[in-house]
Amino acid sequence: MKEFNRSSPNAVVFAMASLFLVSAILVSKGYYKGISWFIIPTTTPLAWTSDHTSPDFSSYKEQRRKRDHESISNMPKHRDEKLAKLEADLATARALIREATKKVNQTKKSFLEDADYVPQGEVYKNAYAFHWSYLLMERVFRIFVYEEGEPPIFHNGPCKSIYSTEGMFLSFMETDIHFRTWDPDEAHVYFLPFSVVMMVKYLFDPIIRDKAVLQRTVVDYVQTISHKYPHWNRSLGADHFMLSCHDWGPRATWYVPQLYYNSIRVLCNANTSEHFNPKKDASFPEINLKTGQISSLTGGSPLSDRKTLAFFAGQRHGRIRQVLFHHWKEKDRDVKVYETLPKEISYEKMLRTSRFCLCPSGHEVASPRVVEAIYAECVPVLISQQYVPPFSDVLNWESFAVSVSVEEIPKLKEILLGISLVQYENLRRNVKLVQRHFVLNDPPKGYDVFHMILHSIWLRRLNVRISA
Ligand SMILES: *[C@@H]1O[C@H](CO)[C@@H](O)[C@H](O)[C@H]1NC(C)=O
Ligand SMILES: *[C@@H]1O[C@H](CO)[C@@H](O)[C@H](O)[C@H]1NC(C)=O
Ligand SMILES: *[C@@H]1O[C@H](CO)[C@@H](O)[C@H](O)[C@H]1NC(C)=O
Repeated sequence: MKEFNRSSPNAVVFAMASLFLVSAILVSKGYYKGISWFIIPTTTPLAWTSDHTSPDFSSYKEQRRKRDHESISNMPKHRDEKLAKLEADLATARALIREATKKVNQTKKSFLEDADYVPQGEVYKNAYAFHWSYLLMERVFRIFVYEEGEPPIFHNGPCKSIYSTEGMFLSFMETDIHFRTWDPDEAHVYFLPFSVVMMVKYLFDPIIRDKAVLQRTVVDYVQTISHKYPHWNRSLGADHFMLSCHDWGPRATWYVPQLYYNSIRVLCNANTSEHFNPKKDASFPEINLKTGQISSLTGGSPLSDRKTLAFFAGQRHGRIRQVLFHHWKEKDRDVKVYETLPKEISYEKMLRTSRFCLCPSGHEVASPRVVEAIYAECVPVLISQQYVPPFSDVLNWESFAVSVSVEEIPKLKEILLGISLVQYENLRRNVKLVQRHFVLNDPPKGYDVFHMILHSIWLRRLNVRISA
């Protein structure tokens, strides 16, 4: 475990150590109860996979059982010891977080006070537990990035366009010095640094349309790292993660069943009807960086300047937008819905001067409009199905966004007018509060989108226990 640099590290270490001790005692008494925003890790590794009908899964278990027998004699002893130590750290973190979930009103006490930022209020499912979990992540979590693979497909990604979060994350991870470790035996998770956007750009022929290029690339990569390093086989991929904002992100993982069913997949296309499993996969926010610039993207007008009730402009992609256009396209003075925005109207200005910004799914469930709305301090209206919004294990989406089902689209105006001014102001205040979690910083800053993604991965890693 690395030292962390804070102003008074000794005091914090001491506070942590005494809490570790307390929690160890509590654990031994079986004191813990279930918690809502975070699944209780079970003693059986990979227990969550039983939710799915994976044709090969029984054979994985078989493999695992066999390997469990063999591994003791085959693996170097120090590696087992290191793993045991890593798992012990995770077990302590798990116990502390569970303990924190029961103390919702304690943000003001203990060592958490000297932190730069204290999560508070209704935008969090449990602010105190999140705070604990986040600080433990900062102190404990170590990520190994496989060095195999060459740019432009590996270690590189787009930093412009609606897929930019994929490139931003890859680039932040390459240069990170806080979470990254170069010793694979010291890591809690292993990153597969490929970019699906780059595979599509460089390997996919739009005329031949042979999607097997994704298959070859991903299968080869997992083969390479699983032969060269012992870590993939050890967990059957469960402590490995990939990440993609491309519509085909989920598809790229399909060709390696262990990657699909066991690994942590961080995906913009977080469609639960397509095997996105929120217990092990994490929803990745889509951020449309039109120019690649990440500064001055935030800011909105005060309520008095927000004359438009609701706004949307975008192409006729997917089924939900068909319905939206059918009922609202250029039909209402207050609900302004455009397929093509007239030249004289500024898209950014509309976001900043509307009360609600509509975020219907397009070709895939995620929409970059959610983050656009949050940046413009416009209350997002999610119109989607089978979508898991980003960071919903810690954020209370109902406190800063409105959700409208596809069936309710005809009543959209009625629903939005039914939200009182007091309720609206509350929603908008909360949008401003959560904004920091969606902002990109270069280099990253605490609690920004990069750290929130890492936190999603951290929580999912806590759900798995790996044994040597
Ligand atoms: C936490 O504080 C709020 C407001 O002070 C109070 O309404 C709530 O009951 C408290 N919750 C617990 C579990 O103590
Ligand atoms: C991992 O398992 C595969 C398939 O069983 C095997 O071919 C490979 O050699 C193993 N890797 C290591 C590092 O032992
Ligand atoms: C989500 O997945 C289902 C099942 O494949 C599909 O029918 C639906 O269109 C997807 N949603 C979006 C918005 O693409």
